[in-house]
Amino acid sequence: LSLPKEKPWAQPYDLYLFQNFWCPGIHIQAVNRFQKYFEAVKDSDVVVASFPKSGTIWIKALTFSIANHHRFSPLENHPLLTTNPHELVPFLEFSFGGNIQDQILHLSNMTEPRIFGTHTPFTSLPKSIKESNCKLVYICRDPFDNFVSAWNYFNKVKPMSLPALTMEEAFEKYCNGIMDYGPWWSHMLGYWNESIANPNKVLFLKYEDLKEDTHFHVKRIAKFLGCPFTQEEESNGVIQSIIKLCSFENMKSLEVNKSGKIGRGNIEKKDFFRKGEKGDWIVIHILATPMASMGGIQENEDEKLILSLPKE
Ligand code: A3P
Repeated sequence: LSLPKEKPWAQPYDLYLFQNFWCPGIHIQAVNRFQKYFEAVKDSDVVVASFPKSGTIWIKALTFSIANHHRFSPLENHPLLTTNPHELVPFLEFSFGGNIQDQILHLSNMTEPRIFGTHTPFTSLPKSIKESNCKLVYICRDPFDNFVSAWNYFNKVKPMSLPALTMEEAFEKYCNGIMDYGPWWSHMLGYWNESIANPNKVLFLKYEDLKEDTHFHVKRIAKFLGCPFTQEEESNGVIQSIIKLCSFENMKSLEVNKSGKIGRGNIEKKDFFRKGEKGDWIVIHILATPMASMGGIQENEDEKLILSLPKE
């Protein structure tokens, strides 16, 4: 492990450059254990992969509902009405804390299809995942919106002992790849390249596309997972009900997602739902980059990067 040269930005924990990505110190052991012990992968398993703050919770809810659409009606007694998506679809990295035997037993007892989440970059996934026939669904988000979402989130969940950084300072770090599981670019490219080389293995989705035409992408995910909707289900409104169940407004308003904490980090469940929009970043002024001439970005006389604050 090599120590970072300076204190990372508003993180709950320090970041370490580990296997070519920035990993929070507390997650290193978890990722190591996940790589070592997650062996018994089933072909029916689905792994939802994402860079943090890309809409992980949304794609977890959608994937769970789609893969289980024969078992549960989206309208009544659906597990998402009473359980947070992070609990229904556990992160693999955090599933190997405590007693490993117990954890392995717990995972092997999960109802099939087992659906997991991960933030680990593709290159660091265990061989068991890469070499089995399990499927990976990756969600990618516009890095500007991803940054704004992350900045808001980490400012909320950071321990009091860490000083908050300004948005400019944080953005500079983000551009240098310094964020949990960063750099964003190589995280996204790892899954992108695999989705091109092996389209039956990795489905690459964009948050923005999913927002734009959720219906189309829900059908696409179902087909990819091998559980397409029948004509009858489609005309009976099953897809629409899933979209509504997993929508930002609905998820945010559910009692189960409004209060209480989750995980070892003591994170408030409500903090996973902020705005749920695309284009929340406003204007970034960058001089002397090809982007400056592309509109939306204005030049700055000081030749310095300036990021204006988001709408609020
Ligand atoms: P914003 O901070 O831009 O609002 P993650 O789940 O990876 O932590 O990502 C969190 C982001 O996804 C937040 O973005 C959050 O509001 C948004 N989000 C949560 N649930 C969503 C949903 N059902 N639909 C769309 N976006 C959602």
